[in-house]
Amino acid sequence: MSTMSWLQQKRLEYKPKIPRLLQDLNQVVFKELKKKKKCLDSLRPFFPKTWDQKPFGLEEVKSTKSSPLTVGVLFSGGPASGGHNVIAALLDGLKTIHPKSRLLGFLGGVEGLLQGSYKELQEKEVGFFRNQGGFDLLGTGRGKIETEEHLNKALKACQQQDLDGLVVIGGDDSNTNAAILAEYFLEKGCQTKVVGIPKTIDGDLRSEDIEISFGFDTACKTYSEIIGNIARDALSAQKYYHFIKLMGRSASHICLECALNVQPNLALIAEEKKSLEEIVKEIADLICLRFEKGKEYGVILIPEGLIEFIPEMQSLISQLNQLIQEGSSSFEKIVERLQDPHRNLFLTLPEKIQKQLLFDRDPHGNMKLAQIDTDELLIERVTQELKRRTSYKGKFSPQRHFLGYEGRACFPSNFDANYCYSLGLLASLAIRDGLTGVICSFQNLSSQSEEWRAKAVPIIELMRLEVRKGKEKPVIEKSLVDINGVCFVKYRHLKKLWAVEDHYRYPGPLQFFGDSSLIDSCPVILNK
Ligand code: FBP
Repeated sequence: MSTMSWLQQKRLEYKPKIPRLLQDLNQVVFKELKKKKKCLDSLRPFFPKTWDQKPFGLEEVKSTKSSPLTVGVLFSGGPASGGHNVIAALLDGLKTIHPKSRLLGFLGGVEGLLQGSYKELQEKEVGFFRNQGGFDLLGTGRGKIETEEHLNKALKACQQQDLDGLVVIGGDDSNTNAAILAEYFLEKGCQTKVVGIPKTIDGDLRSEDIEISFGFDTACKTYSEIIGNIARDALSAQKYYHFIKLMGRSASHICLECALNVQPNLALIAEEKKSLEEIVKEIADLICLRFEKGKEYGVILIPEGLIEFIPEMQSLISQLNQLIQEGSSSFEKIVERLQDPHRNLFLTLPEKIQKQLLFDRDPHGNMKLAQIDTDELLIERVTQELKRRTSYKGKFSPQRHFLGYEGRACFPSNFDANYCYSLGLLASLAIRDGLTGVICSFQNLSSQSEEWRAKAVPIIELMRLEVRKGKEKPVIEKSLVDINGVCFVKYRHLKKLWAVEDHYRYPGPLQFFGDSSLIDSCPVILNK
């Protein structure tokens, strides 16, 4: 039996569709664009060498010449579908620029860079990863570049391999690292140029120039299929309320996209910043209203990051973080030092959630939101609220689901396959043309890929200062759902109708063959 499934083999044959200007890399160059977004003055002391960096766009020329390039690449953070196409395109792009160019892949994310652990990537191996999911060609990690020692190790690794460029495929923190490395390398007279690629299923690395990060489309299409299936089961069996928690550590973009795809009875959008009481009331009202219409089932979407946006929870979490940072480590000590109203709120939470808030932390001390059972908290509170409402005579039967990891490493949709391949080609050009501290982007993504417009954007244009671990640090600002934006307003407008009547849509599985409108669609949040 073949070691590859039929679809694996078929996807290897897919030829990504790319923007017209990227069809001959030797006939385009990056040119500085006149229009520059003003960066924050407060960032200047952190980036004296790159603060004045301008954005770049592509321009056609007769021909270009380049010597061979050596480029390093790494994945960083959670997997997102399409990453392997960035690497395949980098390899193709570098070989087109000069056949003697080399691509080195650092293993296991930033850690691989710091330890100088890499492998040289050749078509023989990369060929098996074209249009496939996952990050397993190189592996990934959540390591960060935080200290002078880290910077120095990264510098050494790039100098040892005589790298012309380093491509960082990651989210907001990883691209922040890319900007910091670019500045540091310039300061140390190192020739390595650093280029970022916007990755994250969460879709929160967005700006005017970056319409969406890669991986978002595939993840949402995967979740939408499953939510649609659950909705159809709900409608058939008519006995359960399905509470579906969706990944997205901070922003609710995934939740909104899936809601617009499937039309559930309710999608909570964390950015509305409702109190716990308001959310519980909203869900209980919905259940009572549906009960009056003879419906004892429903589908409710919950974003993973919800708990952090509930104002009273937000202030509880920040007090807990402070106490933990100050060295309080036991449950009793922390409860003793918590002040009201935080103490009161904390003590009314289910024991499991109390423990998750206190002890489930990643190596950087961040709360592991994916592991907090927000859905369980809501179910518990809604059950209490329904008991209180004597007019409600129904049988509330909740079912919990969590959709996260199943959407991060699947076959990339055509949109993500095309987008990632184009991003990889663009990164090879950015390094050839000597750009550093920039992130690759395309605009006009809701049009056919031939019409996408390429840009290299200074990463510091996306940054602001934030207090992290008691110190001001430059970071990329996470893009949240705009509750005055077209997509949320559209949802709000339809919300009442979907709550009571059932308007479920069933998107079905991600498709790779057939009508272009079926296989080439982009995320709905791009079709404003
Ligand atoms: P990135 O921001 O690194 O792309 O990861 C996003 C994410 O998928 C979140 O949605 C989720 O909270 C988190 O990763 C889970 O991380 P882990 O893989 O460490 O459990």
